[in-house]
Amino acid sequence: MKRRPRVLAKRFLNPTLEELLAKRVELVPWDENQEPVDAIYCYGHASVDAELMDRSPNLKVISNHGVGVDHIDLVAAKQRGIPVGNTPRVLDGAVADMAMALLLAAARRLVEGDRFARRLEPTVFDANDRHGRDVHGATLGIVGMGSIGTQIAKRATGFDMRILYHNRNRRMTAESDYSAQYVSLDELLRESDFVVLMVPLTAETAGMIGARELALLKSTATLVNISRGGIVDTQALTETMIAKRIFAAALDVTEPEPLPREHPLLKLENVTITPHVGSATVQTRRRMAELSVENLLNGLTGKPLACEVQ
Ligand code: DGY
Repeated sequence: MKRRPRVLAKRFLNPTLEELLAKRVELVPWDENQEPVDAIYCYGHASVDAELMDRSPNLKVISNHGVGVDHIDLVAAKQRGIPVGNTPRVLDGAVADMAMALLLAAARRLVEGDRFARRLEPTVFDANDRHGRDVHGATLGIVGMGSIGTQIAKRATGFDMRILYHNRNRRMTAESDYSAQYVSLDELLRESDFVVLMVPLTAETAGMIGARELALLKSTATLVNISRGGIVDTQALTETMIAKRIFAAALDVTEPEPLPREHPLLKLENVTITPHVGSATVQTRRRMAELSVENLLNGLTGKPLACEVQ
């Protein structure tokens, strides 16, 4: 009987993936003394480096459940001729929804309000307390106008927001459809009431929001990071938030992730943190599972991947 392809899964998978993969491949759990496998399936940002690739001389494909591939050594994969698949586009709507959720939550102090409303004392809600900031009519700066950034711009127009953006290249569709205005990063940081970071983590973008950039933000600004924690200098952000130099930060991602339990950012009322759940809806995670499994099976059978990282 023909053997099923062996697929290394470094993290436990969810039931949807188990169901999609169970009959087609043999799932091999991560182990230091790994026997060679035919493919690597990446779930939950498990890192894949050259050494791991070299343990399997006939590795045919690396399939990532997610769009961000900063945890995979792409140069090493390319040098070895191993295609890497990911799941772009199917998660755009969910991540854009989450960016707006974080933006609104931070602006209207939602999480802080929830914590307050549940407290046993005091029992009086003071009308002078917990004023937030208007979202409607405010200026939104989107750093990274890819397909998710464009979906955020689309949602923001519903809130009558003025949209600025910064990107490697101009995005004419965003400009014509959502009146987004292309500006330099510094101008965006200086002018925006809300800044949403939506760029992939690469050597160029790592630490792109450091102390200098944070100092450019308005004192009333809110920073939303929904891409990767490494885009922002954590120490500089921590100092900014402790000093209440800006109004709020809302972070779906942090560096490191998760933050150590004693980290000062976890203690601040002006910081909202969620556990990297930008694409985590039932429907979107199902689509990501299907696409990543399609990539995996195509790679195993020598077919072009449905979505290959270039
Ligand atoms: C992505 O798609 O990169 C998200 O971070 C979920 O993994």
